[in-house]
Amino acid sequence: MNILRIDSSPRGASSVSRELADVLQQKLEAQGNTITAQRDLYYEALVTLGNEDRVNAYFTPPEAQTDVQKDAVAGSNELAIEFANADAYIIAAPMYNFGVTAGLKTYIDLISRAGISFNYLPEGPIGLLKNKKAYVVVTTGGTPVGSEVDFVTPYLKTFLGFLGITDVIFIVADLVNVNLEEGIAKAKDVISKI
Ligand SMILES: Cc1cc2nc3c(=O)[nH]c(=O)nc-3n(C[C@H](O)[C@H](O)[C@H](O)COP(=O)(O)O)c2cc1C
Repeated sequence: MNILRIDSSPRGASSVSRELADVLQQKLEAQGNTITAQRDLYYEALVTLGNEDRVNAYFTPPEAQTDVQKDAVAGSNELAIEFANADAYIIAAPMYNFGVTAGLKTYIDLISRAGISFNYLPEGPIGLLKNKKAYVVVTTGGTPVGSEVDFVTPYLKTFLGFLGITDVIFIVADLVNVNLEEGIAKAKDVISKI
């Protein structure tokens, strides 16, 4: 499998989600899979959807686009096509203020594209990304994953499902600020069974 790895913690060496994504990556590589692309969403400083002009670029024919709109579409196309081309994903998604980090949300806004990752049909939207597998590493400090204030796992499950990605494995290290060892051990146990 060609894997796209996505990190989204602002923390570097001390990041728990990066550490666990590394362990998972080693496991998947040992099974013959390859990381073919990598995105570090906090350090890449993605250009956001920005403003109305940039958002309207998606609905403007190429010949009528301004230079700013061409730039908006090109940046989004690059990310969305790269995402669509992967067979599998490692997504490291730490919880910050009950949701995903701003970097991951920005990325999601850029890869969610009609005609590339989903389409509108008369009966509603349909995901275009089929036969993909997603491994999502979720870390939290004090919020239990699965609780009513966990807006990371249901959000990512919904978003990935919207794109057609329904084979999703969550690798959870929650409550790491309460008991770091226990959280990491729980996640590593899931990785050991992959
Ligand atoms: C700004 C900030 C906001 C956070 N918000 C939450 C939160 O809402 N719930 C929670 O359980 N942990 C929260 N945490 C703790 C992180 O989820 C925890 O430190 C986790 O290890 C983050 O993953 P990382 O180490 O890969 O960055 C927050 C930490 C920071 C720095």
